[in-house]
Amino acid sequence: MNTVAEPIAPAAAAPAAGGDARRRRQGDVILEVKNISLRFGGVKALTDISFDVREHEVRAIIGPNGAGKSSMLNCINGVYTPQEGRITFRGQTFDHMNSRQVAEMGVARTFQNLALFKGMSVLDNIMSGRNLKMHTNIFQQAMRNPWFGAAEREENAHREAVERIIDFLEIQAFRKTPVGRLPYGLQKRVDLGRALAMEPQVLLLDEPMAGMNVEEKQDMSRFILDVNDEYGTTIVLIEHDMGVVMDISDRVVVLDYGKKIGDGTPDAVRANPEVISAYLGVGH
Ligand SMILES: Nc1ncnc2c1ncn2[C@@H]1O[C@H](COP(=O)(O)OP(=O)(O)O)[C@@H](O)[C@H]1O
Ligand SMILES: [Mg+2]
Repeated sequence: MNTVAEPIAPAAAAPAAGGDARRRRQGDVILEVKNISLRFGGVKALTDISFDVREHEVRAIIGPNGAGKSSMLNCINGVYTPQEGRITFRGQTFDHMNSRQVAEMGVARTFQNLALFKGMSVLDNIMSGRNLKMHTNIFQQAMRNPWFGAAEREENAHREAVERIIDFLEIQAFRKTPVGRLPYGLQKRVDLGRALAMEPQVLLLDEPMAGMNVEEKQDMSRFILDVNDEYGTTIVLIEHDMGVVMDISDRVVVLDYGKKIGDGTPDAVRANPEVISAYLGVGH
């Protein structure tokens, strides 16, 4: 896992977002989105969007349905190629990258609609997140003899890493359960585990709490903050629940019809008249 720059006591992991304790721990800009525009035929999904993400912060992206939030994450992780604009990640600037390159650079994501293998166990789903980290090839893995001991050693190391994630997410009881049989809230937690298995520096979460009940949302909020605190992972989070956003994020970007209409601390964004009218207009 990533080294933790500045270990903190568990008490500080409580949702004290926006507080000095969290703000002081933000580092330099790790990810910068500059003048991104994305069109699908006549639809302008994103228009001239710029914002930055600081190392170790929880950065939220909010906005009404269709505002362009998922498209923004898809540009960051190379699923969509914007017609205009650039993305700088740890000092390197790109106008086009594919998803694999982005993943290799340490950016993982979860999807708005779960992308898990429903028939496979929790353990195997999380293990699938480690594919990028596997150095030995399939041929070596198939040849289980002493000459190829490295493959087995590597697999054991991967299994240990996955078991640590399972413990961390408190899903030990379901290790062998096919994911499709778990309640939705737990499936979302497994999806987070799959992304964590990549040991990302930046984690992109697309509505990790959508469809959850209050208790599940509280659990997921806690896990997100724990990942942020314990692994030092930078989090970019799309979320609809304004209470959650206000509780756990350091800074918020607001999109509406593909344009950025707000950017700042949760309190500043909440007081922004343009943001208020965008939300009132859609009836959130
Ligand atoms: N693959 C695509 N093809 C065509 N239009 C798309 C595609 N992805 C997103 N869009 C359009 O871009 C706009 C923004 O969508 P999206 O990024 O999913 O918004 P949000 O996540 O904020 O709800 C919408 O009008 C949507 O229909
Ligand atoms: Mg979306």
